[in-house]
Formats: sequence, structure tokens, C-alpha cells
Amino acid sequence: MESRRLPSSSSSEKKLKRREILEKKKAIDQLIKAAYAQNDHLDYFPPFRHFQRNGVCVHLESGRGDKLSSSEKHYIQNLLKVNMEGPYGSEWPTEEKVKRREMVAPEARYIFVREGKPPNASATEDKAPIVGFVHYRFTLEEEVPVLYVYELQLEPRLQRKGLGKFLMQLIELIARKNCMGAVVLTVQKTNLLAMNFYLSKLRYIISSISPSRVDPLTRVDKSYEILCKVVDQEYKTVLEVYHLNMVKTIMWSIAHSTCFILSPLVHAGWRVDEQSRANFSLILGKFLRYADYAL
Ligand SMILES: CC(C)(COP(=O)(O)OP(=O)(O)OC[C@H]1O[C@@H](n2cnc3c(N)ncnc32)[C@H](O)[C@@H]1OP(=O)(O)O)[C@@H](O)C(=O)NCCC(=O)NCCS
Repeated sequence: MESRRLPSSSSSEKKLKRREILEKKKAIDQLIKAAYAQNDHLDYFPPFRHFQRNGVCVHLESGRGDKLSSSEKHYIQNLLKVNMEGPYGSEWPTEEKVKRREMVAPEARYIFVREGKPPNASATEDKAPIVGFVHYRFTLEEEVPVLYVYELQLEPRLQRKGLGKFLMQLIELIARKNCMGAVVLTVQKTNLLAMNFYLSKLRYIISSISPSRVDPLTRVDKSYEILCKVVDQEYKTVLEVYHLNMVKTIMWSIAHSTCFILSPLVHAGWRVDEQSRANFSLILGKFLRYADYAL
């Protein structure tokens, strides 16, 4: 009779780890589902339904991409063109099409900024005009559940009156309430005012997943940066720290500098016996392959 082998401690450890990873993944999926299942994210933050400061009086209302009226769609497209055609430059026609698709996605959640005080619950009059909006979603970035701000747009006459900061404070509260790890967003590098707004005023940082951070040596120059603010410290290392990429970069630099220094020496007749040369080539080849693969 064949005796059953007991699993080795390393294989049971692996199984346990795999199970832990799967359970964590499941829990994160549940978080995102729960965040989407909530009907109105503003319900938890009644003081944020109304903004009255610096001569601006507006109220906020929730919306969804798959429930937009045609006038809301028109408004969004127009404001995007007014605010974003400049920063996108020649990329705008392509980007405009992408934004049109994103606008109506079922996952798209909105906060509409409407003129005037909030209407009474019993009021039957038409809705007040929109003067700005936030489009956000709950999603995964590097296995981290995040609130991703797709758009934050205010009409030019309402800018620089504290409303953008107010909306981003609300977004951070919504992210925390729904147990997200961070707020993430993309900004065009040419949109200097928005960059200054997020980086200097709101203390966002360029994320480790941003193109300029992912691969500092061989990166293709992209026109945007991904910014983030971690709201759950558990995820700080994933979205903020880019030490792994730095390690890869350093390895790559060492390997290539070694080649750079040694090859002229060898060409100049530096005498090395056959065996050492073969060993050296083998080790360097492996190191280079690993460094290139890692990068
Ligand atoms: C970027 C935007 C959302 C900022 O909102 P806002 O309401 O104008 O900004 P706020 O008034 O809340 O400003 C917050 C801080 O940022 C600074 N700031 C805002 N706009 C600025 C600007 N144009 N120039 C310099 N500083 C600016 C303010 O000084 C303020 O600092 P303070 O509180 O110390 O005074 C808004 O200007 C906008 O809709 N811009 C066009 C669309 C856009 O670029 N969206 C971002 C795409 S990612």
C-alpha cells in the first residue's frame, strides 16, 4: 500500500499564502461592489450638499453615467471642451472621443454642482442649471481599491473660489467611507494650474504607478502624470513608494557600466585567461539578462 506523504511545511505555507491572497482579493472585490451598490454617496455628508462662499452659492447632487439626460450629456461635453481642449492640444480630438464613451459608462458616478440652494424635498420645479461636475469611479490600481477621479470640471467663472478644494475634500471623505486605499487621478503635464492645485494645495503626490516613476531610464515620455493621495496607510508602499523600480534601475546601471568599463580594457589587450573570461561572460550575461528582464 502506498503511504500518503504529508505535505511539506513549505508547500502548506504556500497554500496558506495563496488562500490568504484569494481571500484578500475577494474582500477587495466586495468593497468595490458595496461602494457601487450605494445609491447616493452624498447621503453620509449632508453639510457637503451646499456650498456658499466667496460669492458662490451652489448645491450638490449625485448622478450616474447610465442615467444621464441628453442635456446633462451636452453640458458635460461642452464644459470638457472649454476647459480641456487647451491642455490636450493636438491630442484633443482623440481624447474627446474617449471622454464621450467614459461619460456614459454604467460605472461612472457623478457629483453635479448646481446653481443656488438645495431644493426642498417637496419642490416640483425644474432642476437648477449645472455649473460643474466630478466624475469618479471605484476601481483597482495595482490590487489597491481606489476612488479614481476621472474628471473635476468647474466653469471658468466659478474657479478659484474654493469650490474645487471643497469637492476634493468630499471625494476623500467618500473614499474613506467606502474603505478605499487612495484617491487617484490623471493630470496632463501641460495643465500647470491643475498640477499646482493638486500637488501644492491638496498635497497629492506623483504616484509610483505614474509613467514618469515606473521606469525612469527607459520610459517613453507620456503627456500625463498619475497623482494619488493615500487614505489608508496599509497601501502607502504600493502607490507611493517606488523603491522596487529604483532597485531594478540600479541593477541595470551597474551591469551596463561594468560592460562599458571592461570592454575597452579587453580590446586594449588586457590579458585574462580563457577560463576566467568564459566565467566572467557567463555571469555578466546572466546579470544583464536578469536586469533587462526585470526592467
Ligand atoms: C482645477 C480646478 C478643479 C481647481 O478648482 P478651483 O475651485 O478653481 O480651486 P480652489 O479655488 O478650490 O483652489 C484651491 C487652491 O488652489 C489654488 N488655485 C486654484 N486655481 C488656481 C490657479 N488657477 N492658479 C493658481 N492657484 C490656483 C488656490 O490658490 C487655492 O489655494 P488657497 O486655498 O490657498 O487660496 C478648477 O480650476 C477647474 O475646474 N479647472 C479646469 C478644469 C481642470 O483643469 N480640471 C482638472 C483636470 S485634472
